[in-house]
Amino acid sequence: MRHLLDTVNLSREDAIRILDVAETMGDVAGREVKKLPALRGRTVVNLFFEDSTRTRISFEAAAKRLSADVINFSAKGSSVSKGESLKDTAQTLQAMGADAVVIRHPASGAAQRLARTDWIDAAVVNAGDGTHAHPTQALLDALTLRRELAARDGVSPTGRGLDGARVVIVGDVVHSRVARSDVWLMHRLGARVTLVAPPTLLPVGVESWPCDVELDLDRALAAGPDAVMMLRVQAERMQSSFFPSVAEYSRRWGLDAPRLAVLPPQSIVMHPGPMNRGLEISAAAADSPRSRVLAQVANGVSVRMAVLYLVLSGANTPEGA
Ligand code: NCD
Repeated sequence: MRHLLDTVNLSREDAIRILDVAETMGDVAGREVKKLPALRGRTVVNLFFEDSTRTRISFEAAAKRLSADVINFSAKGSSVSKGESLKDTAQTLQAMGADAVVIRHPASGAAQRLARTDWIDAAVVNAGDGTHAHPTQALLDALTLRRELAARDGVSPTGRGLDGARVVIVGDVVHSRVARSDVWLMHRLGARVTLVAPPTLLPVGVESWPCDVELDLDRALAAGPDAVMMLRVQAERMQSSFFPSVAEYSRRWGLDAPRLAVLPPQSIVMHPGPMNRGLEISAAAADSPRSRVLAQVANGVSVRMAVLYLVLSGANTPEGA
């Protein structure tokens, strides 16, 4: 695997391979010394043009657990705010010897742009580009769900997809790169995905995505999904009013305590974070025993270790794991 840019072009086989390597990497987190020598001497640059807490820290922890050298580059306070272009920044990183660049950028397509030019030789990992894609988030969501399904069936998660699983993704789909990446990945892994959103928050052309679309959250929950993923209402990407009021939004599309109570006992609740408590998700749901929000964060480090390892080594099994 040379780059990881989106999940639309990720085969089922490659996705399962990443998840399987992530399972191995996850074992390292349980050890006293949480470090493998696999990427010693390699340099990973975190190039963040957009605010981020958990994704940046997660990539940093992943690279460090593999013994890589990590450079964090945040566009605020850098020459980017003086007008330096993506090309100049990339060429600077190339000259410094970056082996992998993890990029988050407000423009959809920025990661592709970096990977498909001759500005740099480094492997490019997309950490979220505009409203387009966020492949490592989708992979950590799939890892979280796959573990859950395997534990329920009393089998090993390794080598499996998400065949037969039913996933409901709710909320601000139009602004969500997470929803896009999840739909494609989960579909490819054999899950059936239903998107639930107000009509104003559904993207144009959603009919051609490999999923079902439903406007009524209660109807989607009554079908007894294996996982309900709530999306953050992305106020910073909204120039106009997409719904009448906060109260109206949470009444119709929020996961509150009564809706939580309707779910079958084995259904789990997920959220990519950061959560707007009281808007798309109630505290009761976020903190309930069904919530896998913190498992998602922990699995994020394993998935990013697997991705960095695979793009930088090209090998099948991690050394020293
Ligand atoms: C997501 C993102 O940035 O796309 N968050 C994340 O990666 N932790 C989702 C969001 O911001 O709502």
